[in-house]
Amino acid sequence: MKVNVTDYQKILNQIQSELSEVKVTGKVASYIPELAKVPADKFGMHLYNLEGESFCFGDSDARFSTQSISKVLSLALAMKTIGGDLWKRVGVEPSGAKFNSLSLLEDNFGIPRNPFINAGALVVADVLVSNFSNPKAAFLTFLHELTGDDTIAYDEVVAASEKSEGYRNFALANYLKSFGNMENDVEEVLDFYFHQCSIAMSCKELAQAFIVFANQGKLLHSDRQFLTGQQVKRINALMLTCGFYDEAGEFSFEVGLPGKSGVGGGIVAVHPNHYAVAVWSPPLNPKGNSELGMAALERLTTLTGYSIF
Ligand code: DON
Repeated sequence: MKVNVTDYQKILNQIQSELSEVKVTGKVASYIPELAKVPADKFGMHLYNLEGESFCFGDSDARFSTQSISKVLSLALAMKTIGGDLWKRVGVEPSGAKFNSLSLLEDNFGIPRNPFINAGALVVADVLVSNFSNPKAAFLTFLHELTGDDTIAYDEVVAASEKSEGYRNFALANYLKSFGNMENDVEEVLDFYFHQCSIAMSCKELAQAFIVFANQGKLLHSDRQFLTGQQVKRINALMLTCGFYDEAGEFSFEVGLPGKSGVGGGIVAVHPNHYAVAVWSPPLNPKGNSELGMAALERLTTLTGYSIF
């Protein structure tokens, strides 16, 4: 079933007006001091479809901290770089636990449950540090090729802010090292990881970056096969089952699309063969996912009448 052009904009307008009435009870993330400064009332959404058409509202052009959304993109680069060997070091099972949980590593001999919990993303970061002489530059080049936009950059202030309070990630990285699942120096891997999380992008840029996951691995702006069909299929499966930590079931139940959240208040979701969509609203629900973002995507798949199911 295909939704026509006018309908998407009409539906986004309806989402904006319905949700502007909602009293938000969530809280802006404060464990990274810089994130606590972001105004709570920012709200934007951008949908980009395979026809190259854009639909949006609100603060959709404002850049914000992508945080854990970036884990999808670092995973894509690691899969492109070392292929299936990655799965010897990271699992593909939902965790049912908080994003920064340490508890599941002990039982799994230091193999993180999946690449989107912090432990898994740190192993992915370690792979990139092992495979590139300048991993930060390599990741940026990857993002620039993916989006066709070479202004996308790290936010050094946010990266430093996260490092200043990053005790749990230091603990996780050291714990992985104790199991032999971290090849490089912990400091070096964390420096890459904090930078990766600090990447600033707008809803528009995120929707344009994630269209590759709706387009079977092909870039829309150049028609280049950027990831393989199999890589994209697997990344979408992981987003569906693991993209929202202990709220992955709820997102699947209410929205029905592969997606990924970040503590900056962003969520990206993909409808394979149709569109990629990004939404941003900083206040987070108790599970650490954007409260209005979750609601906006639920309205999108309800009002369009279709999800992947
Ligand atoms: O590792 C951290 O704590 C953050 N830089 C990323 C956390 C995050 O976005 C979790 N997901 N919602």
